[in-house]
Amino acid sequence: MSAPNKSYDPVEVEALKPEEIARRRDEALAAIAAAGDLEALREVKVAHTGDRSPLALANREIGALPPHAKADAGKRVGQARGQVNQALKARQEELEAERDARVLVEEAVDVTLPYDRTPAGARHPITTLSERIEDVFVAMGYEVAEGPEVEAEWFNFDALNFPPDHPAREMQDTFFVQGAEEGETSGVVLRTHTSPVQIRSMIDRKPPIYVICPGRTFRTDELDATHTPVFHQVELLAIDEGLTMADLKGTLDHMVRALFGEGMSTRLRPNFFPFTEPSAEMDMLCYVCRGESVGNPDRPCRTCSSEGWIELGGCGMVNPRVLIACGLDPEKYSGFAFGFGIERMLMFRHNVEDMRDMVEGDVRFTRPFGMEI
Ligand code: PHE
Repeated sequence: MSAPNKSYDPVEVEALKPEEIARRRDEALAAIAAAGDLEALREVKVAHTGDRSPLALANREIGALPPHAKADAGKRVGQARGQVNQALKARQEELEAERDARVLVEEAVDVTLPYDRTPAGARHPITTLSERIEDVFVAMGYEVAEGPEVEAEWFNFDALNFPPDHPAREMQDTFFVQGAEEGETSGVVLRTHTSPVQIRSMIDRKPPIYVICPGRTFRTDELDATHTPVFHQVELLAIDEGLTMADLKGTLDHMVRALFGEGMSTRLRPNFFPFTEPSAEMDMLCYVCRGESVGNPDRPCRTCSSEGWIELGGCGMVNPRVLIACGLDPEKYSGFAFGFGIERMLMFRHNVEDMRDMVEGDVRFTRPFGMEI
């Protein structure tokens, strides 16, 4: 700070002379204009507006002036500082805009560049849905059982109580790999359903038996929107003491709740299968309209064609003749079984309209189902 200003002349205070203030201001403006980036500007700001900047130091000298000169000097310094601050702000905005534009250019991604990664592919929804169903039962203590796709006719038909001349055998439209040879009772077929795995499980294991068997099955259908000669089923078999149809019903209800959500249920309609007695056709409540579309033309449902129920597959209590064929005592053991098609479930669960999409192996079909593991 200067010595007391004896002459009371503001001009005598070196730092407050108009040309000195103008010089300090111009120096600051020049430094601001010269700052090439935001970092440099930050330094200029400290040097020219901070506590120890030339204009701040000049400001401190005002106190040494006589009262009548203070206002004038204050105005001059204030104006100079205002100009510096304004220039700072303008330059700051300019440099920020420059930086943003530069970042946009430097970090731009060329989306037209050729794709150089190997596509990862996707798991087929038939696989992920089968696994989901398996999980529901594995969680209940069931084991996953498997059997061969090329199967002895005996396992596919005879042991399941289809007599040699039973019309159901023809009903199955079977691919024969090898006919029965002279003196032999059984040829070789591509299994027409997963039920032969019931037989294999009962022969291989000791009760109690709780198995779930997903697998590929074959029938001589032409491939079209609603048929495929190669398809998938899931079979369930439970053999224990004292099992009843109520256990079957409870198990089915649990499954549809686990797969389609709370409030779901199933219903059974009488039917015939040689290997179950009694046998039933099983339907599940439509998971979309929950039955509310029935008799309600204002709310039609595409998923169940406004029927309220969706047909799932077949089920029943294991026929005692089948238990006997597998060496189990029907007086001691009883059991239930059910089986249904995975393709059908995939169709109504995900609105797949054409079965051919499921067999063509196009990754554009499988990918939208996601990488469920
Ligand atoms: N195997 C039967 C079919 O393919 C379904 C079924 C399985 C029926 C188990 C009853 C019990 O149609």
